[in-house]
Amino acid sequence: MPQATTYVHRFEPAPATTAGGTLLLLHGTGGNENDLLPVGRAIAPDAALLSPRGRVLENGMPRFFRRLAEGVFDHEDLVARTHELADFVAESAKRYGFDARRVIAAGFSNGANIAASMMLLRPETLAGAILLRPMVPFEPATPAVLDGIPALLLAGREDPIAGQTPARLAELLREAGSDVELVWQETGHGLVQADVDIASRWLRARFADSEFLR
Ligand code: MLT
Repeated sequence: MPQATTYVHRFEPAPATTAGGTLLLLHGTGGNENDLLPVGRAIAPDAALLSPRGRVLENGMPRFFRRLAEGVFDHEDLVARTHELADFVAESAKRYGFDARRVIAAGFSNGANIAASMMLLRPETLAGAILLRPMVPFEPATPAVLDGIPALLLAGREDPIAGQTPARLAELLREAGSDVELVWQETGHGLVQADVDIASRWLRARFADSEFLR
């Protein structure tokens, strides 16, 4: 396999006594690899954390793929970047020695959108996904096969960026066979403490028996 494109990233191993899974942390527009580390630790205290920085710059702000305008995505770039990121996750599993079958994405905004795209295009990369303020990355021409892969969608009723799109995303992930939980909160686009609380409860409930959290 050719060397995957490298990302500036942080990797925090799981605490030594555990053999849990890995959270793939994907920041929002203008963020970086440090942003979600505290959120990741709070959601999954025993997991390893892999946190890359998006390689696209929009007026100096890192993102995971190009957009043509707010909410209008460059589909070709999104597809290429999704594969690039999935390859990076696979390479990182070899490099750091974590289990590639136990990776759960936790993405916010632009990071949630590329995580959703990865579910649709490279489902083997993820054992599950926590999508914070997601939108529909694209409408797939043929349904993906998600075979019960669980996804938690945390949407804000007052979110001016995502609007009602999380409902459509939930629908299309369900059509693909994902086990989707969509939670609407009385909040906007930004993250709130309830996101962490709900995500950590969901993770515990969904992965209690799968050794993700030990
Ligand atoms: C995106 O571009 O992915 C969405 O508009 C969310 C954002 O990053 O603002």
